[in-house]
Amino acid sequence: MTTYTDKGPKPEAGRFIAFDHITFWVGNAKQAASHYCTRLGFEPFMYRGLETGCREIAAHVVKQNKIIYIFQSMLEPDKPADMARHLTQHGDGVKDVAFEVEDLNAIVKKAKSRGAVVVKDIWEESDEHGSVRMATVQTYGDTTHTLIDRSNYNGPFLPGFKPVNQKDPLTKILPTVGLLHIDHIVGNQPDLEMNDVVDWYEKNLMFHRFWSVDDKQLSTEFSALRSIVVTNYEETIKMPINEPAIGKKKSQIQEYVDYYGGAGVQHIAMRSNNIIETITNLRTRGQQFLEIPATYYTSLRQNLKNSKVKVSEDLDEIQKLNILIDYDDEGYLLQIFTKNMQDRPTLFLEVIQRHNHQGFGAGNFKSLFEAIEADQAERGNL
Ligand SMILES: [Fe+2]
Repeated sequence: MTTYTDKGPKPEAGRFIAFDHITFWVGNAKQAASHYCTRLGFEPFMYRGLETGCREIAAHVVKQNKIIYIFQSMLEPDKPADMARHLTQHGDGVKDVAFEVEDLNAIVKKAKSRGAVVVKDIWEESDEHGSVRMATVQTYGDTTHTLIDRSNYNGPFLPGFKPVNQKDPLTKILPTVGLLHIDHIVGNQPDLEMNDVVDWYEKNLMFHRFWSVDDKQLSTEFSALRSIVVTNYEETIKMPINEPAIGKKKSQIQEYVDYYGGAGVQHIAMRSNNIIETITNLRTRGQQFLEIPATYYTSLRQNLKNSKVKVSEDLDEIQKLNILIDYDDEGYLLQIFTKNMQDRPTLFLEVIQRHNHQGFGAGNFKSLFEAIEADQAERGNL
């Protein structure tokens, strides 16, 4: 495991602020949005579709604290063509990861000069709340990044969307979840493509390496992976990039690539400040998580006895909920992974709580892989 301290030169102009929102392209946006509300505690936020004068697509936006997801679907056969092709190829998945930025012109100019593919050059959208400027660039696979400058806008989301004022009656009877903001978003790459993707972020967006692990540290008897995390200068946006490594059997990263039909977003990690309450309530709502073998907790209890760090959460509670712990001398993190969010074994979600620990759970990868492999074997893919 390597932690990097060299941030590289500070960009002369332009700044990445935070994750803005995530756009999913799915077969049935209405139902997908509803699933994230009932199972994961999001609330209906915005809508755009036939009723708002948008003729080609429907978009349902859901929100939980600072996390905003847009689910989009086609309305007519084979239109828009790129959406139709995307859905057939990848199934339901993440199409775009949007970042809020300052000085969009400078960022786009730099990216263009470095050879980034601009899918949609700077455009502006306005309404009574002001105007938003955006541009979209291509990253790995069919995934894109939309860069959003909101400095002249004070509306609740984006022009063209209508607020959904009707509360979901289930919100009143289901427990609050408390997911706060996006912690990191992981992209899986085909074999030996990780380094090129990392270079792309360094060259085009002026990101730098934050953390990495290689397959010698990250392997089980069967499968292995390599991962490098890239981040912006201020380190507010973390994007781990994975690739499979050769093991005895098929890597879980390769399984993803096979089913997604190429590179794409593997998981979205969301931060909680009280993971025990968050996971208890997500389980009450019926959200399913990976099952962790009891042996993990036996060795965890043993190892924690000899460690400098003191975990303040109740370990029985942690074990009951199948939450994982990774730690060093200075701090620890708690994390848990959902089962896949759709039938294809592609996207899943993570919930993470940090106590003075900026890692990504490398100490858990082995037990996590073993849990994933148990499911993978059940699917006949190991
Ligand atoms: Fe993660």
